[in-house]
Amino acid sequence: MLPSRSSFPPGFLFGAATSAYQVEGHAFGGAGGTHWDTFAATPGNVVRAENGARACDHYHRWGEDLDLLRAGNFDVYRFSTSWARVMPEGRGRVNAEGLDFYDRLVDGMLARGLKPALTLYHWELPSPLADLGGWRNRDIAGWFGDFTEVVARRLGDRLWSAAPINEPWCIGWLSHFLGQHAPGMRDIRATARAMHHVLLAHGTAIKVMRGLGMKNLGAVCNFEYAAPADASPEAAAAAQLYDAYYNRFFISGMFRGEYPAELMAAFAPHLPEGWQDDFATIRAPLDWFGLNYYTRKLIAPAPGPWPAHREVEGPLPKTDVGWEIFPEGLHHFLRVVQEYTGELPLYVTENGMAAPDRLAAGSVQDADRIAYLAAHLRQCQRAIAEGVPLRGYFCWSLLDNYEWSLGYDKRFGLVHVDFATLRRVPKASYHALATALQR
Ligand code: FCB
Repeated sequence: MLPSRSSFPPGFLFGAATSAYQVEGHAFGGAGGTHWDTFAATPGNVVRAENGARACDHYHRWGEDLDLLRAGNFDVYRFSTSWARVMPEGRGRVNAEGLDFYDRLVDGMLARGLKPALTLYHWELPSPLADLGGWRNRDIAGWFGDFTEVVARRLGDRLWSAAPINEPWCIGWLSHFLGQHAPGMRDIRATARAMHHVLLAHGTAIKVMRGLGMKNLGAVCNFEYAAPADASPEAAAAAQLYDAYYNRFFISGMFRGEYPAELMAAFAPHLPEGWQDDFATIRAPLDWFGLNYYTRKLIAPAPGPWPAHREVEGPLPKTDVGWEIFPEGLHHFLRVVQEYTGELPLYVTENGMAAPDRLAAGSVQDADRIAYLAAHLRQCQRAIAEGVPLRGYFCWSLLDNYEWSLGYDKRFGLVHVDFATLRRVPKASYHALATALQR
């Protein structure tokens, strides 16, 4: 059973999240090309080479989707703006149609009593900027600052919260070291630079928004519990290294103005010159911090170059994307993050699971998702009882959507989407949440 709203402190907020490229339909409304379009069009990167051209058609059906949020008794909608929809070339020209879309969307939320929680960038980089080196190019901080200003001037007066960048680790490591996301690189120098520049862009955007008088500015990072695969000291060291570049790199940059010591021997030679001086920007004060949490990994040492480790399959029950279900990891990070963030309000900005499509006779039974959400919400309550200043929780995701390299195969939604007809059918988990969240 899902814990009810009344079992959380008064004012605790519940939301659901989506992102622009995953739901909107990038072919609509004059948006420019992005590195995800071309990454997807390259064989071997994405299941069936699927892309976000139509996605959930949220671009046209946003009213219906906001109605679902309201009827589900959610308080907040976490959405993102597509850089290429607002500025098709990434710099210069503004696409009025794109900005108007987000204007309507924000007004639509307010009209329904929903708080708009903006993420400026959730992974679709305009192609002309990718041509210039994308996140490897230090100039991206300025380009991103300019984009931020355009969005902030138009929407800033009506947002509840804003965060510059979703999940820096995915932009840096997953996309430039593992090559699993656009731009699909596998290069340590590119990785170190991208990871640093993401933070520089983050700090730059915070400064821009502060300068415009915006309030409630935060950051959103993803965390994965790193467990040693066995009891050996080598496995412990491997897990610690994984934890350093995954879980600690960005938060230590933002809150301590330094990078984890374990990484420096391998990483420092590849960081851009003068990187230490950027912490003045990177450490721009924040009003809240958001954690995205899904799973844990078992890590073992492995032969080969740095980082010389590998993932080992774990014994716990898994979701449809093969991720182990480990709710205790969420509690762990809510505690650990506080060592960096202190008294700052925390939010779980994403949590949820992929489960196979089970639409039958007009309804979707997803008891496994309800159990997953319940288990993670109980870990939130455990942390709150221990004094962690956790102020809200967001489900990933409102809708089944474009799950990046997994295409439309993997379904994370509380609401089922038939990608042929685009019909939305709320799943059992949606109904269970609507009941639990009644005011
Ligand atoms: C997160 C992403 C989100 C979605 C979920 C499953 O890492 O922020 O876009 O892909 O994972």
